[in-house]
Amino acid sequence: MAEFDFGGDTLDLESPEDRALLRFVLSQALFGEATGVYCGKSLYAAHNLEAARFYLRQARQELAHLELFAEIFRALDMTPQPAHWVIKLLSAHNNYYPLKVFMEHAVGEGMVLDIFRDVLVKTLPDDHPRMAEIKKKLAVVCREEEEHVAWGEKETKRLVAASPWLRHPFYGLLELQLMVAPMVTRALGKRAATHKVLRHLPRFVDHVRARVWAQGQELGFVPRVRPALPYRVFAMTWGVFLFIRSQFSRSTSTLEKTYITELGFPS
Ligand SMILES: [Fe+2]
Ligand SMILES: [Fe+2]
Repeated sequence: MAEFDFGGDTLDLESPEDRALLRFVLSQALFGEATGVYCGKSLYAAHNLEAARFYLRQARQELAHLELFAEIFRALDMTPQPAHWVIKLLSAHNNYYPLKVFMEHAVGEGMVLDIFRDVLVKTLPDDHPRMAEIKKKLAVVCREEEEHVAWGEKETKRLVAASPWLRHPFYGLLELQLMVAPMVTRALGKRAATHKVLRHLPRFVDHVRARVWAQGQELGFVPRVRPALPYRVFAMTWGVFLFIRSQFSRSTSTLEKTYITELGFPS
């Protein structure tokens, strides 16, 4: 899918309003990276050596991202503020593996990547003296987030193929996530209509929704044509039940039972 275009409109880092806006966005990113470090918790539940390798690598990368964002704050002479409650809710760790790879990695980190790559990188003005080094840091973060999304997509595809019933709750949860997305623009109110960068936001939300929809089709649980309302309600209800159920799921370890075959020895 084509990248989103802000038409060259960038934030003004001399304006207090734009600095407050950027501080808000960066503060959410910093919190997200801090919770990202706890993906290390998934190491305990890793079902094979490949998953263990991935989570070890991801935890290291998220810790590095946390520090990179701290350096970006310092380069811009800003201090972080606490995260918004929605971000706190969305970044909560999920112990149920199918929902973790689908909601956190494929869709969640996919949207994070949209914001880092399409919003932050494109709307930060190049005329700031530290911008070249800031964008270099963001490029590193984006490259690694792409790896996390790719893992989520690969695992989601595998799980949907192995348990086709997952298509229903996954589809329902995707519908719900896409319903919530436009609320972000509504929350910004009237300011969004006139601000040089924010006025692009409704179009950006549509862009993200279209991309996530296409991603769901590629992953095998979004039908070619949007289903009628009764199926959507059925799928959303199942999705909500699965999500609630996932909140009570406990991690179970497998590697201490499978390590001999995982290492290629006969069992
Ligand atoms: Fe990250
Ligand atoms: Fe990540």
